[in-house]
Amino acid sequence: MNLYEIRNKRVVLRADFNVPIENGAITDDNKIIETIPTISLLLKNKNKIVIITHLGRPGGKFDKSLTIDPIKKRLEELLNRRIEKINLDSKDFSSEICILENIRFHKEEEENNNDFSEKISRLGDVYVNDAFGCSHREHASITGIQKYLPSFQGLLVKKELSNLKKIQNPERPFAVILGGKKEDKLNIINKMLDKVDVILLGSYFGKLFAEEKNEAIKSIREKCKEKNIRLIIPDKKDIYDISSITMNEFKKNLDGMKTVFWNGPLGYYEKEEFSRGTSEILEYLSKSNARVVIGGGELGAICLKINKNSENMCISTGGGASLKFLGEGSLVGIKDLR
Ligand code: 3PG
Ligand code: MG
Repeated sequence: MNLYEIRNKRVVLRADFNVPIENGAITDDNKIIETIPTISLLLKNKNKIVIITHLGRPGGKFDKSLTIDPIKKRLEELLNRRIEKINLDSKDFSSEICILENIRFHKEEEENNNDFSEKISRLGDVYVNDAFGCSHREHASITGIQKYLPSFQGLLVKKELSNLKKIQNPERPFAVILGGKKEDKLNIINKMLDKVDVILLGSYFGKLFAEEKNEAIKSIREKCKEKNIRLIIPDKKDIYDISSITMNEFKKNLDGMKTVFWNGPLGYYEKEEFSRGTSEILEYLSKSNARVVIGGGELGAICLKINKNSENMCISTGGGASLKFLGEGSLVGIKDLR
């Protein structure tokens, strides 16, 4: 059986609807939109769907600001259907589409607890993972549940993999741009050093590298020296945005690249005055001859907003996940799916 042959079943659909929300309103719904093809396919084939997602990092307990209500509302608008919100103890839910409250309200989710995985598996007959953006997480609703249900790739996961495979063995020279603030990305960069020619750092990572407190950083620095990789670090003062000097340095180093992978914005882009570096480098790359993959919700959103989705660029819904895939060649949440 494959995804297209799932019929008349109750499908547990793991989506990554971890979207930015400000004052109760979703500021970027791209991740939701990207999952619509899978939902539509499953509905067309007369399945009932129970959607699971996380939102933010509530740390295993209820957090009123992180309930999935705004997501449910947006999805209802997009699908033009009513969706039933359920929790793990709900019985007798019968709507065609149900959505479970934020799965990370349960600490067992991130612990990848077995009983919990089994419990959520009882919500359906088959499991579809379309949550590309968190498929690098070994969590109950990503990996644990697969032990208990026949498990399939969703259409977004398929699309993401096919885009990333194009740069898995990148045409050189290959540049990686790393911004944003999730420190766990550093360990993954470490794994990419065999195929990278230039690494450009922005935002918080510029500061981290300048301070050199972190072990991963020391090791990246050493390996870059060994392997002749150009490591471009902005000034410590550039955390909010890269300066004009750094901008020129970035452009100079991106010149002639055949492949570019970019993860995370280069500054505090939410504030207009700090978004210049990110926008200008996007603009520059959109006019280049490089194949560019943009990884991550935030950066993808900026890219879509300023309409830099040109021919040579493609956007991934998962920053950390795409980085991990490029570094390791597979993702825990995807490798065993049909
Ligand atoms: C994301 O938005 O990056 C994904 O949903 C993963 O979230 P996480 O880094 O909190 O696991
Ligand atoms: Mg993110």
